[in-house]
Amino acid sequence: MSWLWTSADLLAALNGRPVGNLPEGITGISIDSRSLGKGEAFFAIKGDRVDGHDYAGVAIANGAALLVVSEAKLPALGRLIAPMIVVDDVLEAMIRLGCAARDRSAAKIIAVTGSVGKTTTKEMLRHVLEPLGRVHASVASFNNHWGVPLTLSRMPENTDYGVFEIGMNHPDEIRPLVKMVRPHVAVVTSVAAAHLGNFKDLTEIAAAKAEIFEGLVEGGHAILNRDNDSFKQLEKAAIATGVSHIHSFGSGAKADFRMVEFANGAEGAVLWASIDNRTLEIPMGAPGRHIAENALAVLGAASLVGADIDSVAASLATLQPEKGRGERHRRAIGSGYLTLIDESYNANPASMRAAIALLRDTPPQEGPDASPSSATCWKWASSRRMSTPSSPVP
Ligand SMILES: Nc1ncnc2c1ncn2[C@@H]1O[C@H](COP(=O)(O)OP(=O)(O)OP(=O)(O)O)[C@@H](O)[C@H]1O
Ligand SMILES: [Mg+2]
Repeated sequence: MSWLWTSADLLAALNGRPVGNLPEGITGISIDSRSLGKGEAFFAIKGDRVDGHDYAGVAIANGAALLVVSEAKLPALGRLIAPMIVVDDVLEAMIRLGCAARDRSAAKIIAVTGSVGKTTTKEMLRHVLEPLGRVHASVASFNNHWGVPLTLSRMPENTDYGVFEIGMNHPDEIRPLVKMVRPHVAVVTSVAAAHLGNFKDLTEIAAAKAEIFEGLVEGGHAILNRDNDSFKQLEKAAIATGVSHIHSFGSGAKADFRMVEFANGAEGAVLWASIDNRTLEIPMGAPGRHIAENALAVLGAASLVGADIDSVAASLATLQPEKGRGERHRRAIGSGYLTLIDESYNANPASMRAAIALLRDTPPQEGPDASPSSATCWKWASSRRMSTPSSPVP
């Protein structure tokens, strides 16, 4: 059996007190008793709405191998008989475990932040790196004070590539998270008016994003969006932080990972990208110029962690639009068909602009099941998530 953590290592990293007979090891880590897998450790995290300690019994019934609970909550668990590790504070203990996971790892680590495109870029990195090694990446948008340590503590020891999404909606949020992740490559997708709640303007948002440079390993690389208005500010911040390798992506001549040409299609696109002194013609499985922009950052990051760039480029052909982020559905309607483009994930000015541009650039679909009357319609992001609260769950 290969364990994610042996109980001995887990106990040491958590700095906890064992209660009952601990198993030899655990197969995974869960903070949600509903999705917990058999043999996993259940960490009783206290969230905004619920306290995991109230679900400890459910977690055991669902197959948890052990519980990680706080000393203060132990009396409230009553007569629950289960192997436990008792700690001072469950979230703090999970952070210690995340740091231990990072310490034991020889993986190349990429961290992605930005106002839009974090998940899209993270999933694209997962997709292109998977053929090249063992990839561990954040689930969904697990990018906050619990999502990042949870993702880190779930990272298997033999991971080759770790891909982490780091988000924020206030200053000083990215700094502690990136210091846990300690990436070799930090990507800032863009700075835009998203998650504006706690900020006066874009300058303040960019300053908060720039915290990501503080966690880079010695000799690490920053990848910035040269087409973004905040580029100069981010570049200056990276220099001030002592980042030795600063790269850029975009469509201008100065970009290191450059969009030479782009052609959008109904179901995909073609990107001509200049990287490492070569121009590659890259068929993309997902349409949209904004997706291709993310792909430039992906090509750059993948190249900097030593991935074979021809393989990475080839993998982009089999990319699929992410759920709620340009996902296509073809529907028969009357004597024809329509294409539903689902952009319901979230709505901020940058993502709405990208969505409208994608609609503009989408040619009417041809083919045996398309009809001249085929229409493109959108399920608009309505009231959802103009700004993201601390919960990153999509
Ligand atoms: N480079 C981009 N420019 C503009 N819009 C983009 C870009 N990349 C993705 N989007 C769009 O922005 C929306 C959010 O994308 P995504 O989930 O990747 O962002 P995120 O930064 O992870 O968001 P969150 O902060 O909610 O986790 C989607 O509608 C997506 O299609
Ligand atoms: Mg996200």
